Amino acid sequence: MITSLNDKITLNNGVKMPGFGLGVYKVEDGDTAIHAVRTAIDVGYRSIDTASFYDNERGVGLAVQESGVPREELFITSKVWNDQQGYESTLKAFDESLEKLGMDYLDLYLVHWPVSGKYKETYRALETLYEEGRVRAIGVSNFHVHHLENLLADCKVKPVVNQVEYHPHLSQLELKAFCEKENIQLEAWSPLKRGGLLDEPILVEIGKKYGKSAAQVILRWDIQNHVITIPKSIKTERIRDNADIFDFKLSDEDMAKIDGLNKNERSGSNPDDF
Ligand SMILES: NC(=O)c1ccc[n+]([C@@H]2O[C@H](COP(=O)([O-])OP(=O)(O)OC[C@H]3O[C@@H](n4cnc5c(N)ncnc54)[C@H](OP(=O)(O)O)[C@@H]3O)[C@@H](O)[C@H]2O)c1
Repeated sequence: MITSLNDKITLNNGVKMPGFGLGVYKVEDGDTAIHAVRTAIDVGYRSIDTASFYDNERGVGLAVQESGVPREELFITSKVWNDQQGYESTLKAFDESLEKLGMDYLDLYLVHWPVSGKYKETYRALETLYEEGRVRAIGVSNFHVHHLENLLADCKVKPVVNQVEYHPHLSQLELKAFCEKENIQLEAWSPLKRGGLLDEPILVEIGKKYGKSAAQVILRWDIQNHVITIPKSIKTERIRDNADIFDFKLSDEDMAKIDGLNKNERSGSNPDDF
């Protein structure tokens, strides 16, 4: 289990990834993105999760440059979007992402969604990029067990990460167990259910005990479950507070209470219908 904001988890190819990071979905490019990423880096975040679809890779890249933190101390993730999938088009999408970010490599590149009939070719392009040393690790996002089984049957390079919707209303037990068995690290998107869990009485109640907010309780639950988490915020205070979760530990009883909130309820799309 990670014990600090930039503590790292060793992925199945030996690359180390921070267990906590900033997500930037729906963060407007330009000043907003630059402010959010700069703030996070100043607070001590070392991992940033963007995607070509978020249309803010330029802002993320500028913030990284302005931060003065050496590139090799940061962990930058991007993703190939659905309409870019396919072998050649993914290679092109990767070049475009790097150009926008102003970087010469990525730490992690993900297949954003398992587009039916395309995701294996897309992943093959990621393997090429990995073999060429242009990305340090490759993985997938929004893959159910059946997508992973299908990919694992053919791939040369095992995905290091599966980034999926994961929060106390969607605890993905079967997928989590499968990923653990295969040594594929689970990473939580929408860990706060986009704000939809913050009034949950049980979480508020547990938080009171530790002097923490419901958001902090959820993010701590992720860490104690060995799930990488990347909450998004553009607000300085929240960026700081969300990372302030390394000075308490949820008891087994409280972990079980949070587990009990699961309803298999998504805030985003089901990968089988998207
Ligand atoms: N792979 C995928 O398909 C996929 C899909 C969705 C998301 N993601 C990634 O996962 C990241 C996180 O997911 P998300 O952005 O969907 O949702 P989230 O992190 O669960 O929630 C973000 C929302 O919660 C608010 N918030 C953040 N911290 C808060 C706090 N301490 N108290 C109250 N409100 C708070 C934010 O508002 P403010 O900004 O105003 O603070 C924002 O509206 C994304 O940014 C993206 O990087 C990936």
